[in-house]
Amino acid sequence: MTAQIEPFHAIAVSGLAHRLKAEGRSIIHMEFGQPSTGAPAAAIAEAHKVLDSDPMGYWESPLLKQRIVEHYAQRHGVEISPAQIILTCGASPGLVLALNMSFAPGARVAIARPGYVAYRNNLRALHMEPVELPCGEAERYQLSAAALAALDPAPDGVIIASPANPTGTIIPRGELEAIAQVCRERGIIVISDEIYHGISYGQPTPSMLEVMPEALVVNSFSKYFSMAGWRLGWLIVPPGGIDAARARMGNLFLTPPSLAQHAGAEAMLCTEELEANIATYARNRDSLLAALPGMGLGKIAPPDGAFYIYADVSDFTDDALEFCQQLLRDTGVATAPGIDFDPVDGHRFMRISFAVSTPEVEEAIRRMGPWFAARSRRG
Ligand SMILES: Cc1ncc(COP(=O)(O)O)c(C=O)c1O
Repeated sequence: MTAQIEPFHAIAVSGLAHRLKAEGRSIIHMEFGQPSTGAPAAAIAEAHKVLDSDPMGYWESPLLKQRIVEHYAQRHGVEISPAQIILTCGASPGLVLALNMSFAPGARVAIARPGYVAYRNNLRALHMEPVELPCGEAERYQLSAAALAALDPAPDGVIIASPANPTGTIIPRGELEAIAQVCRERGIIVISDEIYHGISYGQPTPSMLEVMPEALVVNSFSKYFSMAGWRLGWLIVPPGGIDAARARMGNLFLTPPSLAQHAGAEAMLCTEELEANIATYARNRDSLLAALPGMGLGKIAPPDGAFYIYADVSDFTDDALEFCQQLLRDTGVATAPGIDFDPVDGHRFMRISFAVSTPEVEEAIRRMGPWFAARSRRG
């Protein structure tokens, strides 16, 4: 039997946003998690340059792999070999490869709830069982070593995400160490989604590889490198998993786009431009954190990293999808309903992505203020 997969509900909000835009309305897109900036200038210049000279066949860039090796050495003090890097078309296929090479159908894999919607849906598509661990304010919306130790029976695997989507919360290094220890003791395979690495507001974003070299790590050019549509990412597997991972990548996806690989290798050198994007997100985050409590949105998960604010809107509604659609219709500000990330409690949350420009954030705040002030509080 085929598995039942839910669509992203944010797509319903986005569809409405585009219809309203076509009617001439001014829309601020804060519903999807993608940078509004393009790829770094030098990456685009490199793409222009190679278009005329490279036949763009199936290809894996040795230069890109080398730069990823250097990235782990410099940022994380971790030594990996180029052979351990599987270049992928973004984190999405990386996740599919990691799950498929690690688990058989029926495997139980722990994930945090709330969490990125595709974890649950990918597991179901691969006929595996998501074991959702409710993580609320007390847990900072994150999985912990204690929660994994308490699961009975032990799951076969766990997907951790730090900084997380939709909350932006970071798992500190000490907790990563504790998770590694519990997972080793209980034979739990760890997949670490590190797609928001590099986007944080003061706190370090340690890689799981620093404390658990046998973990599988998924990463991407979609967020920090601002290249979502180029479809490029990577999976790091332990030496014993290289053959299994390469066989799956070759059969399921072949290679990522050659053009993206050329540009991606260049993007890895564009630190100054990329850090300027982070400075913009930091300003946007500060503005929202200053303004939202005054609108009645004071219950917010601490956004340590990524570019999201996950806010409790239960004072106003118990139907986040309808609420986000109404906010959009009335103000032109598009946000994502929490039900995408949490099928149980998400109806009382909304996610605001601040990976847009600072003037857009300021305009969104200007429009949302009177709208929230006019909403009656429940209870
Ligand atoms: C936590 C997380 N993982 C993975 C992805 C997939 O990203 P991509 O396939 O563009 O690399 C996303 C996209 O938003 C995400 O938020």
